[in-house]
Amino acid sequence: MYGDTLILPNPQSVAEHAAWNFISALERCHNERFSLALSGGSTPQRFYRLLTEDPWRGKVNWQKLHVFLADERLVPADDPDSNDRMIRQTLVEPLNACPSPDGGQLLPPSQIHTMPTDGTAEDCASRHEAELKAFFGDTPPRFDMMVLGMGPDGHTASLFPGHTHPQGPWVLPVYDSPKPPPTRLSLSLEVINQAHRVLFLVTGHDKAAALRALRESDTHGMPAGLVNPQGGNLLWLVDRAAEGTA
Ligand code: 6PG
Repeated sequence: MYGDTLILPNPQSVAEHAAWNFISALERCHNERFSLALSGGSTPQRFYRLLTEDPWRGKVNWQKLHVFLADERLVPADDPDSNDRMIRQTLVEPLNACPSPDGGQLLPPSQIHTMPTDGTAEDCASRHEAELKAFFGDTPPRFDMMVLGMGPDGHTASLFPGHTHPQGPWVLPVYDSPKPPPTRLSLSLEVINQAHRVLFLVTGHDKAAALRALRESDTHGMPAGLVNPQGGNLLWLVDRAAEGTA
């Protein structure tokens, strides 16, 4: 399944479209809480930073937002490879440096649910699964929105080609990630495909071959090609370099 695709001029326009897409999804959500799962890597950082700036920051109802991770690397929280650290540096800390209407933090710790990394991958996976159960209940979590990237090999989150995709677990331990660091945690394909909205952000020439394979349904089991949210919305925001037209 590839999905609806918007080809945009450059990474900045991808980030801006992602910001408006997120803001409109949040505005249309009538629940008290909006669950957003974010990916690591470099592509989405421009989007995360944008949300902390005007006009976007002022258009987000931060009180509803609960931030999760689509995946995490099993490294210490202060390690440069940590997705939690990257999300804090690009989104949480700049946001909380801004005054909020009630004088508190726009994104307090109670609204941030990153994955634990202080244990074995199995231990951290089951601890995070318990946190998901506490938030979503005992049925597989349906995130309101999931922001995913894609690697040149068609991986997404920390689901890599050639890896199995077991039904059942919500959070998978990963030991042999071809993208370093090797040990990770990932939301499962089952949970990803439960999401109400999945937004792929894909930029750069190095993604063109994988995108072409997805377009031609020649995916060889690329995990990004297996993302097909049941009853949810799937949108790819792709820049011209990744589309191969720049
Ligand atoms: C991770 C990411 C990973 C990422 C892709 C694309 O933690 O490594 O979740 O799946 O989205 O590797 O990475 P770039 O955006 O850096 O190209």
